[in-house]
Amino acid sequence: MEPSHPDILRIILTEEQIRSRVAELGAQISGDYAGEPVLLVAVLRGATLFVADLAREITTPVELDFMAVSSYGSSTKSSGVVRILKDLDEGIEGRHVLVVEDILDSGLTLKYLLRNLASRKPLSLEVVTLLSKQGKQRVPIDCKYVGFEVPDEFVVGYGLDYAELYRNLPYLGVLKPEVYSE
Ligand code: PRP
Repeated sequence: MEPSHPDILRIILTEEQIRSRVAELGAQISGDYAGEPVLLVAVLRGATLFVADLAREITTPVELDFMAVSSYGSSTKSSGVVRILKDLDEGIEGRHVLVVEDILDSGLTLKYLLRNLASRKPLSLEVVTLLSKQGKQRVPIDCKYVGFEVPDEFVVGYGLDYAELYRNLPYLGVLKPEVYSE
């Protein structure tokens, strides 16, 4: 399939592949929670498209909340120091919490988030990530639901950005190197 955007080198996951995998994840999650309410905690901003589609595939009662986090400066990714820019609107004690991420890369963001959320005493705490970068995790993350393993390339689309652009592409694609080396 030809990319519809001139900055995209090639498509890794088509819109149809994503839709069908998100439906599978939704069915699996619905079965696992078996009618119990689940609070989806989406991590801004990359996970917004995924959580919107995933929530519609879950048949158990769903509540939604959001967190925004940021690393401290450019060294954040490597240091694992994460700052909460926007916290949850409500408490999670005694609730089933499912963290929704777009991509698991080094794992440092999720490591921090899971430790932080676990201290609030949820009834259960699990993670669903649409994408996991192969061979990149620096810290082990217990991620119950993974949509796709993806190669270690610069991927954008379906929520993922480069310089805040491309999040609205309906597919996941590899960005042309000349776009980010300019
Ligand atoms: C991305 C992604 C995860 C994190 C994963 O967020 O959404 O939160 O990086 O990386 P890690 O496993 O190495 O910690 P980003 O900081 O790009 O923000 P965004 O979601 O707003 O695009």
